[in-house]
Amino acid sequence: MRERKEIIAANWKMNNTKEEVTDFFTKLNLKCQDLEPERQVIVAPAFPYLSMASEMKHSSILIAAQDIYPERNGAYTGEVGSEMLKDLYVSTIIVGHSERRHIMDESLEMTKQKLDFSLLEGFRVILCVGETLRQREKDELFAVIDKQLSSALMNCEKKHFDNIIIAYEPVWAIGTGRVASGNQAQEMHSFIRKLLKDNYSRPDIPILYGGSVKPHNIKGLMEMEDIDGVLVGGASLKADSFSKIIFHD
Ligand code: PGA
Repeated sequence: MRERKEIIAANWKMNNTKEEVTDFFTKLNLKCQDLEPERQVIVAPAFPYLSMASEMKHSSILIAAQDIYPERNGAYTGEVGSEMLKDLYVSTIIVGHSERRHIMDESLEMTKQKLDFSLLEGFRVILCVGETLRQREKDELFAVIDKQLSSALMNCEKKHFDNIIIAYEPVWAIGTGRVASGNQAQEMHSFIRKLLKDNYSRPDIPILYGGSVKPHNIKGLMEMEDIDGVLVGGASLKADSFSKIIFHD
């Protein structure tokens, strides 16, 4: 039995309609009725479905938001702040996902602002980091991850580390079907673990892997010493494949 809690998180991105959300929770709730306390399931629907998901989900499942604007409320057209997310029983925020960094051009500074703000507001945060294929090929992967982590965690208050989860998501593995091998993922996870230990004395922070996680490769990934769980995109959209990932053993 692993020492740290196993975390299985779904990131639906811009997918799933009302009917699909209903079908998902109707089926997943049944499977999660006897979820062991060592296993934590988190689901991050798109903003319009947060309310519905919070109302429908089984009490053992937590709801996450895929993003946040670092303010409580105010004149920020198109954005969603902490007051609304709390109102909808969101417990966790995904910050720094590579699609936000690369498609929406989110800077290291903005990622840090969102992280700090979410922690201050009492949310748990899944902080995503990951290198592009070019950075990996140029052998810059460790420097890139180090920079993403240290810029986000700089001056972070000690007490807030209890609410941080790291997700290592190599950009080249996201949505491509090209999963990192267990050894590739383990190599980076142990590097991150060492950074967390040396720089923040917190080697116990959960480190998830994300990028083309599927029912057929979850077992091999979860066997790795430093992989505490997964952040799943495509294979989390349907209850059937997501529950195979949750109950992989
Ligand atoms: P994927 O996405 O599982 O579809 O590769 C993972 C993620 O982006 O979190």
